[in-house]
Amino acid sequence: MSSFRTLDDLESELGSVAGKVALLRVDLNLPMHEGSVTDATRIRASAPTILELADAGAKVLLLAHFGRPKGQRSSTLSVSMTLDAVEDVLGREVMFVPEVGGPVVAQSVGILGNGDIAMLENTRFWPGEEANDPEFAAFIAENGDFYVNDAFSAAHRAHASTEGLAHLLPSFAGHAMESELKALETALDRPEKPVAAVVGGAKVSSKLAVLEHLVGKVDHLIIGGGMANTFLAARGVDVGASLCEHDLRDTANRIMDVADHAGCTVHLPYDVVVATEFAANPPSVRTCNVHEVARNEMILDIGAAAAETLGDVLKTCRTLVWNGPLGAFETEPFDAATVALARTAAALTAEGSLVSVAGGGDTVAALNHAGASDDFTYISTAGGAFLEWMEGKTLPGVAALRT
Ligand code: 3PG
Repeated sequence: MSSFRTLDDLESELGSVAGKVALLRVDLNLPMHEGSVTDATRIRASAPTILELADAGAKVLLLAHFGRPKGQRSSTLSVSMTLDAVEDVLGREVMFVPEVGGPVVAQSVGILGNGDIAMLENTRFWPGEEANDPEFAAFIAENGDFYVNDAFSAAHRAHASTEGLAHLLPSFAGHAMESELKALETALDRPEKPVAAVVGGAKVSSKLAVLEHLVGKVDHLIIGGGMANTFLAARGVDVGASLCEHDLRDTANRIMDVADHAGCTVHLPYDVVVATEFAANPPSVRTCNVHEVARNEMILDIGAAAAETLGDVLKTCRTLVWNGPLGAFETEPFDAATVALARTAAALTAEGSLVSVAGGGDTVAALNHAGASDDFTYISTAGGAFLEWMEGKTLPGVAALRT
């Protein structure tokens, strides 16, 4: 972290920020239902940065994208849909400005008092954003005095507001960005060993790069969800009617071979929860050995015995990185293994023997469902960025902040 300027460096770099204009990149790509934000976690994460800048007297211009409007204005994708939620979390009034640059923003800056906050329009309404067009970045930058990036969850995008601006203005990492980077570096770049990774979710194909990176890094790789079926099938197990990418059999075997050579133990379930239909508490649900799955049955969770063994594995570890549920956790009883392992990880973290870091939309929902989130060391607000970090990639938005 020493290579990043943070808010603690503002004064030494810029003097007082009172009256200066902060262009603050936040992530307001929030889940909505019927016009209302359903989860304000990302706003809460950036609230300390927004308020600290405002309280120091800066005029704060929030920059964010919302959805994927592909370079065109869209009435349903205005970032103003999040305005009420932002005001609620901040407990302050926020002015909405339907532009990101030019005279309208300049006039708004003139109206704002020191310490006032404004939200600029969805950066992705302009094609220059995703193209990371330097002219577009300059168009935004001309109304700002300095740039703060507090959107780790968008830092895997090399866009004008996440990357380009950092080259044009004095740049700083916000508090949420800083804590995210610290937590992730602790977990995977210089972790206390042994390290376990849980990688779950439906498809191996979407997490191939993650698996390939992790087998060389961690001591235990716990594979769950539909992905485990692909690995079981590669090992010759008949997974019946389960979700399974049979064409990735060779890939799965190769990953297991690499793990073997790297001294990484790959954990696959030996008992599983199966049913002939995917519904809540179906009559056909049963637990069986992986070698006893019938042709018409689907594996929908890992079994209680396997989950207990995984809990024992975590007890031997010092660090855990978790992405993806172990089973179809939204539907009972297929949440049982995810809930059990999440609670074990939370308890180990609470007693101080484990550093636990988790990320990804589904994962956060699963840990919340298990009531385990509060005890995890760190829960990332990022989805795609967390995955790319787990792949060992350098995130452009982070790289651009390096001094
Ligand atoms: C996210 O929601 O994960 C980030 O805001 C990035 O959004 P994107 O995948 O549309 O770039």
